[in-house]
Amino acid sequence: MNDQKVAIVTGSSSGIGLESALLLARNGYITYATMRAPEKDTPIKAAVQKEGLPIRVVQLDVTDDSSVKNAVDHIISEAGRIDVLVNNAGYALGGALEDLSMEEIKSQYETNLFGLIRVTQAVLPTMRKQRSGRILNLSSGAGIFGYPGGSAYVSTKFAVEGLSESIAYELEPFGIKVILIEPGFIRTNFANAMVVAKKAQDPASPYSELMQKIMASASELAKNASDAELVANVILDAASNPNPRLRYLAGKDVESWAAGKKNMDELEFFNMIKKLTT
Ligand SMILES: NC(=O)c1ccc[n+]([C@@H]2O[C@H](COP(=O)([O-])OP(=O)(O)OC[C@H]3O[C@@H](n4cnc5c(N)ncnc54)[C@H](OP(=O)(O)O)[C@@H]3O)[C@@H](O)[C@H]2O)c1
Repeated sequence: MNDQKVAIVTGSSSGIGLESALLLARNGYITYATMRAPEKDTPIKAAVQKEGLPIRVVQLDVTDDSSVKNAVDHIISEAGRIDVLVNNAGYALGGALEDLSMEEIKSQYETNLFGLIRVTQAVLPTMRKQRSGRILNLSSGAGIFGYPGGSAYVSTKFAVEGLSESIAYELEPFGIKVILIEPGFIRTNFANAMVVAKKAQDPASPYSELMQKIMASASELAKNASDAELVANVILDAASNPNPRLRYLAGKDVESWAAGKKNMDELEFFNMIKKLTT
């Protein structure tokens, strides 16, 4: 068996997943940069060629049982171990709850929550047998507090928080650590990839004016977004620190909002988020 540590990153075609895969590989991890559409491997392949990084691209769609199984089986047979899983794949569904179809909500959960569960379940038998491993789950500021127009996305991230907190107890006896990464606004493809619910795009929606305000405020807040490299550095630290914490904030903006949630009374915090987002 190879002694070099092995990492798997989901959603490595862009943004936080891409930068994390590159940084883990630069720091000696044999890194499986997984993506649902491997034809999007141009940025990662260019860096691999230029820097000679130990990165392998593998197809993995977190919403597809057989894709997850095939990818993880392939990685185990090739690398013989899995030390780090970064559950990064995700997107945001936007729109007021009344404007979201059940289908749109289920798709959001299928990727952000069930996808994360699917990949985690696939790696656990190997980590458990090794009696070691790290599972890093991408949560968000949206895993700490809610905001208007974000109920579906926010509720997936709250679910990721609760799930991670719970399995941390189950997995500790097997030497497996579970870690939540909570970024603020990060400059990636995330805003472009956001799915605005069909009914929320209808100007006749009773929430149309509110949604416009939310979108305008989000664009303003995004002007101070951090780069994906900042989150990649937090991920590398959490993956390699001998005594990692359960939670890591990533970004000055989310640090201040998380402090507000902790220190303000509920109404004061509600009014702050209302002012920021509408
Ligand atoms: N950017 C932010 O402000 C921010 C803040 C807090 C948390 N986050 C979280 O950070 C994570 C990464 O987001 P990002 O900002 O880097 O956005 P991004 O640039 O849009 O990257 C998202 C990645 O997820 C992939 N993905 C989506 N659905 C997938 C599926 N079914 N199977 C496999 N991969 C899938 C995308 O692949 P395709 O290229 O094929 O679409 C892409 O590689 C997400 O979980 C997000 O919720 C982001």
